[in-house]
Amino acid sequence: MKTLIKNGRIVTAVDDYHADIFIDGDTVTTIGKSLDMEADRVIDATGKVVIPGGIDPHTHMDLPFGGTSSSDDFWTGTRAAAYGGTTTIIDFAVQTKGESMIAGVDTWHQKAEGKTAIDYGFHLITTDFEDKHREEMHTLMDEGITSFKLFMAYPGVFLADDATIYRAMTAAGDRGGLVCMHAENGIVIDEIVKRALAEGRTAPKYHALTRPTVAEAEGVHRAIAIAEMAESPVYIVHLSSGDALNQVREARDRGIPAFAETCPQYLFLSIDDYGETFEGAKYVMTPALREKENQTELWKGLKMDDLQVVSTDHCPFCMKEQKELGKDDFSLIPNGAPGVENRMSLIYNGGVHENRISLNRFVELTSTAAAKMFGMFPKKGTIAVGSDADIVIFDTGKSQTISADTHHMNVDYSAYEGFEVQGVVETVLSRGKVVIDQGEYTGEQGDGQFIKRGECVKI
Ligand code: URP
Ligand code: ZN
Ligand code: ZN
Repeated sequence: MKTLIKNGRIVTAVDDYHADIFIDGDTVTTIGKSLDMEADRVIDATGKVVIPGGIDPHTHMDLPFGGTSSSDDFWTGTRAAAYGGTTTIIDFAVQTKGESMIAGVDTWHQKAEGKTAIDYGFHLITTDFEDKHREEMHTLMDEGITSFKLFMAYPGVFLADDATIYRAMTAAGDRGGLVCMHAENGIVIDEIVKRALAEGRTAPKYHALTRPTVAEAEGVHRAIAIAEMAESPVYIVHLSSGDALNQVREARDRGIPAFAETCPQYLFLSIDDYGETFEGAKYVMTPALREKENQTELWKGLKMDDLQVVSTDHCPFCMKEQKELGKDDFSLIPNGAPGVENRMSLIYNGGVHENRISLNRFVELTSTAAAKMFGMFPKKGTIAVGSDADIVIFDTGKSQTISADTHHMNVDYSAYEGFEVQGVVETVLSRGKVVIDQGEYTGEQGDGQFIKRGECVKI
């Protein structure tokens, strides 16, 4: 299949120009002015912005968590991602405690294989890491799983102690791997939660009130300090507060390879969204939503490169029967919220349309930086000769209203219900195949391929 995209405004992390793109099979083979080449399909992108497909490096499809499983599987979740202009996800496989790392990855391969609408890779949530795991980690890295998430939160489930984190960081860093940290002091948080429950404070809003930003800042500080001692880079996931950002900024100013992502929920939602009723369960996620002033700090961090990536931490649970598990006790509400479909439009709207970041920076934050950070660049994350033809034709002149009535994620609410956003994903190509055509899904289950990633942190 040969495809020609005509007359678009091509925007990458560094370029902005008008040209045509010729795609042969799944690869971009020619970019030039007024290309006159025989194609099976010609797409007119006049007046549209043509950008690299989005990369969301933080999703949880089909994740058993909080007594249930996230409500999107690899089919529904990746199809929703495609609707929203994302053409690659990196999902988190899980090594359950006592299990081998390889067994955890095998389970996730079984969940995803033949199901996905777009390309995908895996990080591995690492719960045990002794010296004997070094070899396994390096085997996984040879197989394209080059990043690992460790938790300072969720004692008894995911939490890894500092020695484990140090061991994993040294082993990953030795081979160009990257440790992603869930950086919150979960041990102290659990004590605060116990006190709240004992005092009868059970509503969803107490999820936020029992997870202060200082618990996150302490976790980020400690994660970076351990990485420094391990002489390894570190990537902080779902950073949510100005206090935590200050820790990253201070380290980066000293030249430490500390990196971080934030997510749309921390840029657009706030602690006020919990309200007083059980509706607040929609926003029970970890870290929790913060006071509004943190949003300004996070946007500043994105602009100044103290934050490098916007991911979603897409981890949906329906209100009915799932969030309801915590009706009488906020600590039993499954943690997580949907968003994989909304990221590109939200960040375009809040970032570019509202003049906080440039269009190039938008591309960098939603695609290029993740490709570089997680070993996929320049196959992914840019539009260039030789790159995968993962391309989004984006209409910045149109707007849309986000709603659970129209979204494609398998979840019964939207965290952004009623948000009006400028910028609509019109057409999406995933490795040269049109999977979204004028807003309609035209792909098939199983279109996506597993991405064997290379060394991380080429940034
Ligand atoms: O609430 C969240 N973030 N759920 C997903 C698990 C995690 O910590 O990323
Ligand atoms: Zn996390
Ligand atoms: Zn997550």
